[in-house]
Amino acid sequence: MAKHSVVVYGASGYTGMLIMDWLIDQNIPFTAVARNAKRTAELMARRVVRLESAVYEIIETTHDVESLARAFEGAKVVCNTVGPFVNFGLTAIEAALRAGCHYLDTTGEQSYVRTARERFGEPFRQAGRLLAPSTAYMHTFSEIAAELALETPGVDALETSVLCRGPRGGASGVTVGSTASIFEVYRQESCYLWEKKLVPHPVNASYTVVAPDLLQPVFTLPWGGTSLPVFYENDPRVRSCISSVGFYDNDVMKLVHALGQKWESEYKDLPKEAQDQVIKGLIDSTTPGMPPRERTTVSRTVDIAIGRGQLAAVRATVRGVTPYIATGALQMAAVQKLLDGETARVGFASACKAFGHRYLLGFLEQRGLARASVTAL
Ligand SMILES: NC(=O)c1ccc[n+]([C@@H]2O[C@H](COP(=O)([O-])OP(=O)(O)OC[C@H]3O[C@@H](n4cnc5c(N)ncnc54)[C@H](OP(=O)(O)O)[C@@H]3O)[C@@H](O)[C@H]2O)c1
Repeated sequence: MAKHSVVVYGASGYTGMLIMDWLIDQNIPFTAVARNAKRTAELMARRVVRLESAVYEIIETTHDVESLARAFEGAKVVCNTVGPFVNFGLTAIEAALRAGCHYLDTTGEQSYVRTARERFGEPFRQAGRLLAPSTAYMHTFSEIAAELALETPGVDALETSVLCRGPRGGASGVTVGSTASIFEVYRQESCYLWEKKLVPHPVNASYTVVAPDLLQPVFTLPWGGTSLPVFYENDPRVRSCISSVGFYDNDVMKLVHALGQKWESEYKDLPKEAQDQVIKGLIDSTTPGMPPRERTTVSRTVDIAIGRGQLAAVRATVRGVTPYIATGALQMAAVQKLLDGETARVGFASACKAFGHRYLLGFLEQRGLARASVTAL
C-alpha cells in the first residue's frame, strides 16, 4: 500500500527517475514502485537529483493487476513509465482504476492509446478519475502546437511534426524502453485522422518536412501514427490530423524506415515469440544501456503544427530542449493539478484537454524547457 499521494511506476527507469527529480523539486513525497527494490534503490542513489532531501519509499512488486493495485492503493495519482505500453500499459491502467487513482503515462504509442480509451475511458469516467496517457514530450509538445494553431478561427485541419535531435545528431541517446517502444510499433496499425475517421497510413509511408528552423529537409515517419489523431478523433473542432516524427539525422530515420519494410516482407507473419526475438535483437544492437542525462546544448526539439481552414492558415511552433527531462516536467505539471483537484476532464483525456495547453506551455516556459511562436500564413 502506498504511503504517499503520488506513485512513480517504473522507478528504476530513466524517465521514472526524471519524474522523481521534478517531484523532489516541488517538494512532493512519492512512492517508487518497481520489480526489483534493491536495484531501484541503487539506481536512484546514482541518478535522482536531491534524493537525500526527498520523502519517499520504494515498493517492490510483480507486474500483475492484483499486485500493482495493492501497491497503488492509498495514492491519488499513478505516473506509469513501464513501456512498451502496448505490452505493459493496460495492466497498470486496470490496477490504477482498482486502486481509485488518476492515471498518467509517458507513452507515444497510438494503438495503445486507442485501446486504453476504448477499454478504460468509461470506467475511469464513472469513477471520477482521469486517464491521461501520453503526458510526455511525445506527443504533448505537438498537441500544444496543435492547440495554438486551433486558436485561429476557422482552422479545422492539422498537420503536425515532431523533429528532435539527440546527443550525436540522430536518435542516439534514446533509452532501452524507448527503443523497444519504437520497434514495437512495427506490429501495430498506424492511423491518421481524415474527415473525422481514423484511416491507416500506407505501410511504407514517409514524409519530407521542411522547417524554417533547419536548413535541411527532415525525413519523417508516421511513428505509429502518434497520439494526436486519437486525441482529435471526437473533437468537434477538427476534421483531419496527420502527424509524423523525425530525428534530424536522415540516415538514422531511413534505416528505421528500411527496417519497417523488412518487417513487412520478412517478419510480419512470424509467430509472436519469433517476432519478440527479432525486436530483442534490434534493441540489443542499437541501445547499449541507459544513456546519460540530456544536455540542453544538444538535445533540442521543434514541434510544428500547420493549421488550415477554408482560407485560414497558421503555423505554430514549440521549440524545446531535453525531451526526457521535459517529460518529467509535464508529468509534474499534471500531478500538481490532480493533487489540487483541478482537472477539466475525468475519463479518457489528453493532458492538454485535462489541464489546458496554456497551463502546460506556461509550466514548460517558466522552467526554460519550451517556447512557442505562432505565425499567420
Ligand atoms: N513519449 C515520450 O516523449 C516519452 C518520453 C520518455 C519515455 N517514454 C516512454 O516511456 C517508457 C519508459 O522509458 P524509459 O526511458 O524510462 O525506459 P527505461 O529506462 O528502459 O525504463 C523502463 C522501465 O520499465 C520497467 N520495466 C520493463 N519491463 C518491465 C516488466 N516486464 N515489468 C515491470 N517493469 C518493467 C523497467 O524496470 P527494470 O529496471 O526492472 O527493467 C524500467 O523501470 C518507454 O515506453 C518510452 O518510450 C516516452
